[in-house]
Amino acid sequence: KNYENLLFDVKDGIGTLTINRPKSLNALNSDTLREIGETLNEVKDNTDVKVLVITGSGQKAFVAGADISQMVSMNPIEAAALSELAHKAFHTIQELPQITIAAVNGYCLGGGFELANSCDIRVAAATAKFGQPEVGLGIVPGFGGTQRLTRLVGRGKAKEIIATGAQITAQEAKEIGAVEEVVELDDLMTKVDEIAHKIMKNGPVAVRMAKYVIDKGADLDLDTGIAFETQMWAQTFATEDQKEGMTAFLEKHGAKFNGK
Ligand code: HXC
Repeated sequence: KNYENLLFDVKDGIGTLTINRPKSLNALNSDTLREIGETLNEVKDNTDVKVLVITGSGQKAFVAGADISQMVSMNPIEAAALSELAHKAFHTIQELPQITIAAVNGYCLGGGFELANSCDIRVAAATAKFGQPEVGLGIVPGFGGTQRLTRLVGRGKAKEIIATGAQITAQEAKEIGAVEEVVELDDLMTKVDEIAHKIMKNGPVAVRMAKYVIDKGADLDLDTGIAFETQMWAQTFATEDQKEGMTAFLEKHGAKFNGK
């Protein structure tokens, strides 16, 4: 299927969604958010996609935020609709059975940072810059920034980043836990590929369940979270993957998981 504002392809188990509006530094307008939502709904049911990578086209930007030229004349109803579109799409990313990796190739600002923070893992080019510049435009982050960033880096850092609107480097983002890996721009997709392949070697049900338990448990108290983990852990013993994984170990050869 051809999209106007993004590219999507699947190769060797890796789906790659590339936001493709390089002239506007891949800014997210409502059409783009709608297309992202459609693509994610396809990915959700596509068993050929084991890992989803989200990136931006060109060398300059991942996503430089929501599209300011569209937002400038919006009224509150239209603003709420735009935010709702983004929330739906970003929620779908979080709920996908696949692990999602943001390959942050450049400016990752505002709605772009919020998109990256909806992914499971963030890998950034050393040249990428991160920030929530919304207050400089007279608005607050509206695609989850006050919530997801805070959960990732804590209230103090989130407030510093959001209230100053200042950009931070990929290295700084890594130090505060907003980015997992930083590599040279030329090595970005190689690194992402390497992580994806490590993930794809493992038991598919277990990987899917691990994401689920981590996310669903994050908002629970520790005892309830542990009890939930125990239930999920026990369920893995009903899978063929568990038999295969443990037998292969004991027989000293690699496991061939079938995801059942
Ligand atoms: C629309 C954008 C854009 C954006 C860049 N462009 N960011 N258009 N929305 N968010 C456009 C520019 O207007 C310009 O178009 C072209 O992309 C290249 O950008 P330049 O500014 O010329 O590049 P440069 O000088 O290198 O500066 C790069 C930059 C800057 C630092 C990233 O573009 C910038 O500050 N952008 C805005 C970042 C921002 O405030 N994002 C947060 C948006 S609010 P022309 O036509 O002139 O070539 C947000 C809220 C989310 O995301 C929640 C809302 C509900």
